Amino acid sequence: MKLMPLCVQVNGEVRHWTIAPGDLLLDVLRREGYFGVKRGCEKGECGACTVLLNSRPVNACLVFAAQTEGQDILTVEGLAHQGTLDPLQEAFLDHGAVQCGFCSPGMLLSAKALLDRQPNPTEEEVREALAGNFCRCTGYRKPVEAVLAVAKRRRATAGTREARR
Ligand code: FES
Ligand code: FES
Repeated sequence: MKLMPLCVQVNGEVRHWTIAPGDLLLDVLRREGYFGVKRGCEKGECGACTVLLNSRPVNACLVFAAQTEGQDILTVEGLAHQGTLDPLQEAFLDHGAVQCGFCSPGMLLSAKALLDRQPNPTEEEVREALAGNFCRCTGYRKPVEAVLAVAKRRRATAGTREARR
């Protein structure tokens, strides 16, 4: 089989891999050890394989790895920094939004993409952002509460910083 080189940035690190032209991003990421990218429906329906591609959520089961040459990928493994969980991860735990955890990586990344582009989302916007990530255990109330709590805390922190100026 003909192989090709792939250079991508994953979670801030430049990675050089060898892939087949038809390899899916889902398969390549899992092969390279990013097991937070979950294999669910493989049809673009469940969102378990969600990663951020140039800050936008995509279903890795619908993207050819070859299409991502030179691009920036964030998986759930890149959310925590030096052993400290991302505030969204903390909030999901605090709000009981994680049960089996299968949907959680995708939900967290969809939530991150939302808060990065809309720091002050309405509940409806949060629900819409998470709508592509199916959860069979928890439902959506707790994840939505968790995302709204992070947005609220960020606004409060930003307000305190502003008041100190
Ligand atoms: S595994 Fe990709 S959307 Fe379900
Ligand atoms: S926590 Fe189990 S599928 Fe969402």
